[in-house]
Amino acid sequence: MRVKIKAIKNPSPDAPSAVGSEVVIKGWVRSIRNQKTFAFIDVNDGSTLSGLQVVVDAKMPNYATLINDITTGTSVAVKGTLVESAGKNQTVELQAKEVNIMGKCDATVYPLQKKRHSFEFLRTITHLRPRTNTLGAVARVRNALAFATHRFFQERDFLYVNTPIITGSDCEGAGELFRVTTIDPATPPKKEDKKVDYGKDFFEKPTYLTVSGQLNGEIYACALSDIYTFGPTFRAENSNTSRHLAEFWMIEPEMAFADLNDNMDNAEAFLKYVLNAVMEECSEDMAFFDKYISPGLIERLRHVAETPFERASYTFAIRILEKSNKSFEYPIEWGSDLQSEHERYLAEEYYGKPVMLYDWPKKIKPFYMRQNDDNKTVAAMDVLVPKIGEIVGGSQREERFDILRERMKTTGLSEEEYWWYLELRKYGTVPHSGYGVGFERLVQFVTGLENIRETIPFPRYPGKAEF
Ligand code: 4AD
Ligand code: MG
Repeated sequence: MRVKIKAIKNPSPDAPSAVGSEVVIKGWVRSIRNQKTFAFIDVNDGSTLSGLQVVVDAKMPNYATLINDITTGTSVAVKGTLVESAGKNQTVELQAKEVNIMGKCDATVYPLQKKRHSFEFLRTITHLRPRTNTLGAVARVRNALAFATHRFFQERDFLYVNTPIITGSDCEGAGELFRVTTIDPATPPKKEDKKVDYGKDFFEKPTYLTVSGQLNGEIYACALSDIYTFGPTFRAENSNTSRHLAEFWMIEPEMAFADLNDNMDNAEAFLKYVLNAVMEECSEDMAFFDKYISPGLIERLRHVAETPFERASYTFAIRILEKSNKSFEYPIEWGSDLQSEHERYLAEEYYGKPVMLYDWPKKIKPFYMRQNDDNKTVAAMDVLVPKIGEIVGGSQREERFDILRERMKTTGLSEEEYWWYLELRKYGTVPHSGYGVGFERLVQFVTGLENIRETIPFPRYPGKAEF
């Protein structure tokens, strides 16, 4: 029976992995060293960062062929006995009894070698990059973060709700939508005014890939109290930055009977929970990121997990930025949106830890955020973290019918389009709040990677939808 290398490295009481037991492992060869009377083969099956050392005795009948045919990238099945290892990197190794080559790998053309490759180069071979240490570790950390996310909300009785991917609404109102259509661009049906007639399209109206599941999430929160979504979202913003993707995953909790403070409390608890989970469950991978990607990472994350986040109003943050004497590329004054450089100054330099900024100018925020009594700000909050900047964005929602309708009017939203959103405020309205966590930004924060394109298996960004 095949055993995963992880089970051999972290033996559980009932696993057939103790020294002396016979196992079969299957995986890909990372390296082979021929020592004349025997050979060491480093096999990795993706279940852990470090592979298992296989020792092949030169007396094995097909030894010469094996040594000749096994190269980096070859897939193998090895049957053998687990023995104590004298090597300093491992406690056990596999003494091979049978080695079968499953798929050869031509070393003269195989692009992955035992040296470091640049992330830019690895993106051109996205089909092979999960076989590298870094991308493999990212995949395991990402998996642990996703699982911890579900655990956090499930433990608190939040229902997991799936919201639609195809939608007619622009939740954030930023106009960064990818259109979904079955209309043939060569022969589109036209209206009298010569504009394309989307009434004749598949859904008989204009439709897009969703930028956020929030509006649909609110429907379920206003019936079932606490819910969360966790799904793909899409933004056609042409930002070629290290923090933006055109397709990314968002975690969006929505809570009925919750105000902005409850919202911030939940977001802080969530971030701390998943950080602790990943440090405990992925310790080998995290030590790797700490050593090779971002020195001091674990110490920084532990600090984040252990200390209370700072909370400050947007107005206060603007004062800090104005007084900072830094020459920012983008000037800052009350009313303008924060750029990445401002966010990072606040989280990295001024506070040296995550900071939650609340009460933002109404003018720069979407229609659904609850208006404060000053008539100038809304009950919005962003969580800014060192190195990344904004990682979470959320708000208390406007639950008052008249005020919401007025706000929709001034922001140019059609009442007919969003009739159902307004009706939630007509029938048993409640204060409610929620936020969105950019999942890839979370992975980036946890791994310390420079570019968000390494945090998702198949990144989509301007000019790139291969693989
Ligand atoms: O701040 P945003 O736009 O908020 C919303 O969409 C709300 N509807 C969420 C809610 O209240 N339910 O996006 C939320 C988060 C950001 O803080 C950021 O982490 C991430 O999503 N994000 C992106 N991540 C990667 N690439 C992009 N292009 C992103 N745009 C936003
Ligand atoms: Mg935002």
